[in-house]
Amino acid sequence: MATTPTNNRGTWNSKFGFILAAAGSAVGLGNIWRFPTEAASNGGAAFLFIYIICVVLIGLPVMIAELSIGRSTQKNPVGAFKALSSNKFFPLVGFWGVLCGVMILSFYTVIAGWTFSHVFVEIFTFTGLEGAANVLADFDNGFVNAAFALLFMGLTIAIIRGGVSEGIERATKLMMPLLIVILVVMAVYVMFQPGASEGLEVYLKPDFSLITGELVLAAMGQAFFSLSLGMGALITYGSYLSKKENLVEAASYVTLADVGIAFLAGLLIMPTIFLAQAQGVEIYNEAGEFLAGPALIFQILPELFVQMGGLVGLALGVSFFFLLSLAALTSTISLLEVPTSYIIDEYGVRRKKAALYVGLFVLIISLIISFNTALIDSIDFIFSVIGLPLGGLLICIFIGYFWKTRSAIDEIKQGFKDVRDSWFTTIWSIFIKFICPIIIIIILAQTLMG
Ligand code: PHE
Repeated sequence: MATTPTNNRGTWNSKFGFILAAAGSAVGLGNIWRFPTEAASNGGAAFLFIYIICVVLIGLPVMIAELSIGRSTQKNPVGAFKALSSNKFFPLVGFWGVLCGVMILSFYTVIAGWTFSHVFVEIFTFTGLEGAANVLADFDNGFVNAAFALLFMGLTIAIIRGGVSEGIERATKLMMPLLIVILVVMAVYVMFQPGASEGLEVYLKPDFSLITGELVLAAMGQAFFSLSLGMGALITYGSYLSKKENLVEAASYVTLADVGIAFLAGLLIMPTIFLAQAQGVEIYNEAGEFLAGPALIFQILPELFVQMGGLVGLALGVSFFFLLSLAALTSTISLLEVPTSYIIDEYGVRRKKAALYVGLFVLIISLIISFNTALIDSIDFIFSVIGLPLGGLLICIFIGYFWKTRSAIDEIKQGFKDVRDSWFTTIWSIFIKFICPIIIIIILAQTLMG
């Protein structure tokens, strides 16, 4: 953010800059690490199908909702709810978002650390330094995990201290197209390998009998996680957005980019899982239950790069993990920006100090996770799968019944002149008041009762 001398807040440099930043927040490990892993453990194409339904029916409307709250108040999630209503409960929703952000960031940093360490694993493997490569690729080595988590958090803190617009806008502009190119190259390569078609079939040919309550919950959680929703990241990013911009259009682009990249990652990773399995890597047990844990992509992709062979494999491997690290960085930035903006706005702490303190606090949790990676699944379940949709539900209720969709539409209108005459107003209002909350409640309730 270009920080102005009068306050700690800034604005994005341009509309494109905002879309890049929000897409940078959305596109990350969620697309390339979490989405394929979830799809593989939840029935492949059936998961993809429900995931896309969740994105369209819940994700996009909630994204527009968050952006409108943020831009209207120009505040962090807690301050935003305070500014829009005298109701004492809703600032707690903002606070819950801040907490989810802190907890998600704490494990995200460890996985981002794995991503970055694999840049070196690729290089060491290629140059014959197997020993060094094995040390770095050992997910149970707490010290290595901690070192890379520290490095990653250090970078994130440094960027947030400087204010984010320049860095994020520039990094994303370069990273996103390159990442897409590499994903396409790899997906095409994989598709021509013997055995890949089995993976493609699992990924693209839905078996609707596989749809269970668990799958639907996982798909909804994935939609929230991947679109960075439910915890106020987009309230915060929206707060730096100029009134001239069309929120509906911006949200649509971000959603499209995010889903597109996740879909592409699935095209690469689902077949790769089957190739790896054919080579003896244990991914499912006899009963068809998913065995591979959060480290799955870090186990199977390096094999693929070796198989591609020579300098091409090295170049693709290094660039892939490097770009994925950058994609993760533009997401950790948005995760840290939420609690930081809260401390800046609500406690009047200067940006540099706030970013440092919050970052160090999160880092302590990350270090604990580095030595106990088994914690990742449970923290992810509580704060992403349950926490984010819960946040999204309360945001919908807030707009629908407290702030009122009318006021949100007034905000959207500033950058979308004809919004009142378009179909959008009616449809979106119905979604925010009824459809989104009802779907989220049903899915969460069936989980609680299960
Ligand atoms: N959307 C990010 C990803 O897919 C993660 C994230 C979640 C970022 C929530 C901000 C808020 O990697």
